[in-house]
Amino acid sequence: MWVLFDILISWSTGPSTGDPTLRRRIEPWEFEVFFDPRELRKEACLLYEIQWGTSHKIWRNSGKNTTKHVELNFIEKFTSERHFCSSVSCSIIWFLSWSPCWECSKAIREFLSQRPTVTLVIFVSRLFQHMDQQNRQGLRDLINSGVTIQIMRASEYDHCWRNFVNYPPGKEAHWPRYPPLWMKLYALELHCIILSLPPCVMISRRCQKQLTLFTLILKKCHYQMIPAHILLATGLIQVPVTWR
Ligand SMILES: *[C@@H]1O[C@H](CO)[C@@H](O)[C@H](O)[C@H]1NC(C)=O
Ligand SMILES: [Zn+2]
Repeated sequence: MWVLFDILISWSTGPSTGDPTLRRRIEPWEFEVFFDPRELRKEACLLYEIQWGTSHKIWRNSGKNTTKHVELNFIEKFTSERHFCSSVSCSIIWFLSWSPCWECSKAIREFLSQRPTVTLVIFVSRLFQHMDQQNRQGLRDLINSGVTIQIMRASEYDHCWRNFVNYPPGKEAHWPRYPPLWMKLYALELHCIILSLPPCVMISRRCQKQLTLFTLILKKCHYQMIPAHILLATGLIQVPVTWR
């Protein structure tokens, strides 16, 4: 009887009743402002998944920055809470509102170098101070040490909404639809970082109008090094026409 009751409730509400992950979920407005690629909100949010060995169980939790960056808080929590078993593989997925700064990148590499059975995949909604050479190098070092870094796309927003957000009843498919242009611009800039090219996307904020503006500056090196399909995917660059 109780079981039936529980199931009925969870059918008629959102993820809430009877969901043991509820207290770990964040509110819809938090997800919407933290992970909006057009917002330049200073605080950072981390949503993470941990999977041990071949277990199908996925541990999910979230964190916000305190006096320390979210990445460091994660490492501290993971290190203190778990007696790490080096014979069991561990797969970690992060959904970060901001990409790691160079100091966090360094700490992540140290954390991973001590734990060879841990793999880390990072999805980010924005690149943190991406013009800074040290931050660019930090991301390259992470990638070179085996970390996967990608810009969040619609499928990741959908996944996070369903699994990390306390969405209202019946709104499980109502994840925020951000303009795909921003994800494409950040993906383009991440390509520049990986290829050690100068930045091609400049992002600035018009405080009075609450507008985030971008400027795309493509130099010869960008055209030479970035695969054409990635440049064209932004929809901002004309297809070069070859006359025969
Ligand atoms: C998180 O970081 C922001 C920006 O650095 C800062 O303003 C805020 O106070 C931090 N949050 C906490 C809880 O310390
Ligand atoms: Zn950091």
